[in-house]
Amino acid sequence: MSEMYRPSLHFSPKRGWMNDPNGMIKVDGVYHLFYQHDPDSTDHGPMHWGHARSTDLVTWEELPVALYPTELGTCFSGSAVETAKGEVRLFYTAHRRVDGEDYQVQCLVHADPTLTTYRLDERNPVLGNPGLVCFRDPKVLWHKRSGRWIMALTHGQSIGFYASEDLDSWTFQSSFGDRHGRHSDGPWECPDLFSISDDRGNEHWILLVGIGSGAYAEGSGTQYFVGHFDGTTFTNSNPAETTLWLDYGRDFYAAQSFFDRTGSAPTVVGWASNWQYARDTPTQSFRGVMSLPRTLSLVDTGSGLRLAQTLPHSVLSAFQSTSDQSTYRRELEVTLSVGQSAVITLFAERQPHFTITRVAANEISITVVRRQIAAAPAFAHTYRVSGAYPQKGPLRLELCVDRGLVEFATGDGLTWITQLFFPSASDGIEIVQG
Ligand code: FRU
Repeated sequence: MSEMYRPSLHFSPKRGWMNDPNGMIKVDGVYHLFYQHDPDSTDHGPMHWGHARSTDLVTWEELPVALYPTELGTCFSGSAVETAKGEVRLFYTAHRRVDGEDYQVQCLVHADPTLTTYRLDERNPVLGNPGLVCFRDPKVLWHKRSGRWIMALTHGQSIGFYASEDLDSWTFQSSFGDRHGRHSDGPWECPDLFSISDDRGNEHWILLVGIGSGAYAEGSGTQYFVGHFDGTTFTNSNPAETTLWLDYGRDFYAAQSFFDRTGSAPTVVGWASNWQYARDTPTQSFRGVMSLPRTLSLVDTGSGLRLAQTLPHSVLSAFQSTSDQSTYRRELEVTLSVGQSAVITLFAERQPHFTITRVAANEISITVVRRQIAAAPAFAHTYRVSGAYPQKGPLRLELCVDRGLVEFATGDGLTWITQLFFPSASDGIEIVQG
């Protein structure tokens, strides 16, 4: 029973709890995915770093737990880098409670190039707490122009940037976030910062930021900023109130990109869940699934530069060759006149899950519905997402279904909606247009 909701082309741990992707890195052609993990429980408990690797981003080999709690605390989220000398370093937040409050510091771990052995740096914590309750999730990157390492870090409701010459000693540079994008009652979590070129070859910087509650579709979600980073300061290219979402669904959180020293288009993976109900989902031996990996590009749209996401070829061919009836990918083309809708109903259910309506010549509205499940009261919802109807030709839709996990895309990858379902039948799709 518990395996009924285990997707076949997405990573999930064999047993135990999983949340955020951590330490994502590609070394010598191998992708490593670490993750927030409690091997002994299906609830969020003392965090370890679980570990899996893959050469094609589809077949994941689960490896022994990489990081265990120490006297400095449990192992919260973080990242991994490879130096020019081929040394691999992991950074994580050690989290503990001191006098009834969270106390978080940043730690450094040395890994061998195959990422099988780990040595905690004896100087840990390499970055002590400056007096912030929420001070976590170090994302380290190489900033070529300034020739320094940069660490982006949760600083309460903003992101702090630190710089280092040697990955050991870190100096605060600046922070970004006040009055920009979406804020809610919790901290800005799990930052990621990377450069990407637009279609004219100009470099831009993307800052990804998770908010645990108050995202587009309620609860947790991943927003992004397009801007510039000069090695010291991040500058938003859009007006402060612009809010951009990497995914409009309810199940795409804490997204991170792979560090790749050889430089390739950024590819992200998110945790396909939401803190509103992550602990209540009805699986048994494990709890937590990752999204599909998605490769990013920066597209010049009528409203400015926006991120588009496409699936890597290896993922597309895995969907083509799978013999699992409950795992499929459909590319649909629909032609709608204004006022007309296309209705998608999944899992042999009676009521639709996605209704796509052409509301104006160049605009669609997608109504997304998910019904209640007994175990998770916060699960049900209805919300709307707007998108573009193309100037020429039909509207293209893409739907990836893997057991209960659904990733829906339109607008050539500009709009993604990731949704977790726990259906009683896992196959059956009906598309009605009219
Ligand atoms: C985000 C998060 C991180 C933290 C981790 C703990 O989902 O809250 O900020 O490091 O989960 O598991």
